[in-house]
Amino acid sequence: MEPLIEKIVDGLLDRLSDLRTLDLVSEYAMALPTEIISFMLGKPEEHRHLLRQYSLNILGALDPVVSQKALDAGNTSVSDFGEMLEDIIDHRRKKTVASSDGEILMSLIVGEVEGRKLTTQELIQNCIFLLNAGHETTISLVANSMHMLFQAPDQLNRLIAHPELIDTAIEESLRSQSPLQIGNRVTTADIELGGKKLPAGTYLHLSIAGANRDPKEFPEPDRTDIARKPNRHVAFAMGHHVCLGATLARMEGQIAIGKLVRRFPKIVSASAAVSMGLARFGGFNSMPVSIY
Ligand code: HEM
Repeated sequence: MEPLIEKIVDGLLDRLSDLRTLDLVSEYAMALPTEIISFMLGKPEEHRHLLRQYSLNILGALDPVVSQKALDAGNTSVSDFGEMLEDIIDHRRKKTVASSDGEILMSLIVGEVEGRKLTTQELIQNCIFLLNAGHETTISLVANSMHMLFQAPDQLNRLIAHPELIDTAIEESLRSQSPLQIGNRVTTADIELGGKKLPAGTYLHLSIAGANRDPKEFPEPDRTDIARKPNRHVAFAMGHHVCLGATLARMEGQIAIGKLVRRFPKIVSASAAVSMGLARFGGFNSMPVSIY
């Protein structure tokens, strides 16, 4: 998918070059993952503008503590998005053209698991999961990376002077500004953890953000170093359920940030960015920047 990502980013940057100031979240960070996830879900062009609100409502309802209003908004978005997906799936089933590389919906429709195809409900839930997993997190990766660089201008200048540091810069952003801050697990047996006995069935909220600033693993964890090595962060979790989209997300981040600072080396924060204000997901609703 690399050529597709490069093409989308180049097109976006061309559009931005007419502007002096812009909102980095809505006018840049959001556009790339929206295009990619739309492509994966079979290009639902006419519904594309709805994806962000669905994603924000669903993710908002996943915080450890939520209001009834946020829960209702999340449930409504799951139903509305589910109906939209059912139409798209019906349409794709009737028109079974070969899936182009990277279009996941068609692969999910025609693929088989243990000798059977996925049911419509399974297809819908997998698509909703894909939007949750890959959309907001990648928007945050792009916005959080720029936030990190604005807060450490020496590192922004270092990246502009040494574009080859883009890979480690994105890893430092993933470590210090993890898009997913908290992971969940449920114990399946009685265990002892950190000197505490936990019975089977205990819900655990695991701090990915905390682990990524563990001074035993990361010297000077609060310092931004875009060349940090080793950088064994757990922004994509680890083990059995490690993020399946990690390679794609890294590629999107590297291309989006690498090309942005190369094209607009004078980029600076124009006024305070507005945080999403969620506990589980770390990102921004808006980030005004000036590019000339
Ligand atoms: C910077 C962007 C991203 C971050 C920080 C991120 C983070 C994570 C984390 C922490 C998990 C583990 C959840 C857990 O075990 O509880 C996960 C799982 C997953 N992610 Fe991502 N993700 C990102 C982008 C993506 C993208 C772009 C996709 C696909 C389009 C994706 C697809 C998935 C899937 C399918 C899983 C489930 C894997 C499994 O349970 O076996 N992610 N992600």
